Amino acid sequence: MEERNKQKVFIETYGCQMNFSDSEIVGSILSNDEYNLTTDINEADYILINTCAIRDNAEQRIRKRLKELKALQRKRSWLKIGVLGCMAERLKDQLMEEEDNVNLVVGPDAYRSLPAMLKEVESGVKAANVILSEEETYAEIDPVRLGSNGISAFISIMRGCENFCAYCVVPYTRGRERSRDPKTIVAEAKRLFENGYKEVTLLGQNVNSYKWTDDGDNVDFPELMKRVAEISPMLRVRYSTSHPKDLSDKLLEVMAAYDNICKCIHLPVQSGSSRMLKLMNRKYTVEWYMDRINAIRSYMPDCAITTDVIAGFCGETEEDHKQTLDLFGKVGYDYAFMFKYSMRPNTYAHKYLKDDVSEEEKTRRLEEIIALQGQLSLASYQKDVGKTFEVLIEGVSKRNKEQLFGRNSQNKVIVFDRGNHQPGEYVKVKVLKCTSATLIGELAE
Ligand code: SAH
Ligand code: SF4
Ligand code: F3S
Repeated sequence: MEERNKQKVFIETYGCQMNFSDSEIVGSILSNDEYNLTTDINEADYILINTCAIRDNAEQRIRKRLKELKALQRKRSWLKIGVLGCMAERLKDQLMEEEDNVNLVVGPDAYRSLPAMLKEVESGVKAANVILSEEETYAEIDPVRLGSNGISAFISIMRGCENFCAYCVVPYTRGRERSRDPKTIVAEAKRLFENGYKEVTLLGQNVNSYKWTDDGDNVDFPELMKRVAEISPMLRVRYSTSHPKDLSDKLLEVMAAYDNICKCIHLPVQSGSSRMLKLMNRKYTVEWYMDRINAIRSYMPDCAITTDVIAGFCGETEEDHKQTLDLFGKVGYDYAFMFKYSMRPNTYAHKYLKDDVSEEEKTRRLEEIIALQGQLSLASYQKDVGKTFEVLIEGVSKRNKEQLFGRNSQNKVIVFDRGNHQPGEYVKVKVLKCTSATLIGELAE
């Protein structure tokens, strides 16, 4: 088919890094003889929104977006709208009933059926496929890199989650946990490096439980990290997310042994109260968590530690909340993602616990955590003033064309005068000052 006859697909992504990675897989599946991706929504024949269901406000945002798209559809009658991802999986056909402009609903494990489904939609019927799989990892699909800077890329190494934290919708929207063949992961990372990429982030909901067995070849997460890190010392390796319950010393040893494995661990704590952790089904206590923090510090004193926390989960008392503030103070996180508890239909908490902390109280607790973390972040960044870091340059600063920005191993953003340097290079930068979110420095060589 000639180029000009191809139908154009526009993909818009919400939610976590894994959803962004999935959109790149969708992009790859739909870049073929009949479809072209477009970054201009105004020339799209199909608009696919890859959605998130983690909190109610994430879903509300998508509902609002669907209303906006309806207006667009009124102007262009041929325009078709598809909902992909976690919200598609959670609401299934209900979504098409509630949102009359939605033509297509596709869950996270059904993306290979997209070309056939677009055909159905084209012929005028609505189409849905939300079947979850126990095997699908899209292993051999080479993702197109959407909105990429050509320097860093995400690689999905596993899918699904079966931890069933009491508050969380992910096990229901993403299905059983399964790991991807390590050969395909290493090959993808190699290909990226050969194409000029300098950083890969290995993605999974709980990367510590990565596991692959093949003819006596047992690959766990530390082993996989090693294999990716050994592609080249010039390729930085990051990962997200590790669950505290099984953050092993073996992983910390591997991280410490390779300079190109970045010294930053995202270790979501969720609460500083062991009583809450139990109710949340997190399978660790505060003592266990602190032991893991100490282990990180002893293997890698310069490692950044970041977290996720939920304020106002079912039954949380003022005392539980104080314990969370206490733990934040003790750990001294470099950065945190902080959320108000949002009840998700059909989770354990929805069925068996009471969402009994008032909205005002949730807000107040969240604000207290945010204020404390603001101080901790500032303290963390101030500690870096005077130090020199190796920085991977990612781009030109938006505020000042004469400046570049990049990240250090700890994942902190550093801005500095460009000299003769270009994005994609590694440079040494000395930190001169900071805000609570950015380091400001100068070239050290
Ligand atoms: N797999 C990761 C987290 C993925 S979801 C892990 O276990 O660490 C990202 C974050 O969203 C979670 O860490 C949690 O802090 C938050 N979250 C999940 N469900 C939530 C809910 N129902 N209400 C508020 N925050 C929630
Ligand atoms: Fe959700 Fe828990 Fe799985 Fe993370 S580990 S995705 S919070 S169920
Ligand atoms: Fe959202 Fe699904 Fe990710 S619910 S956070 S897009 S796994």
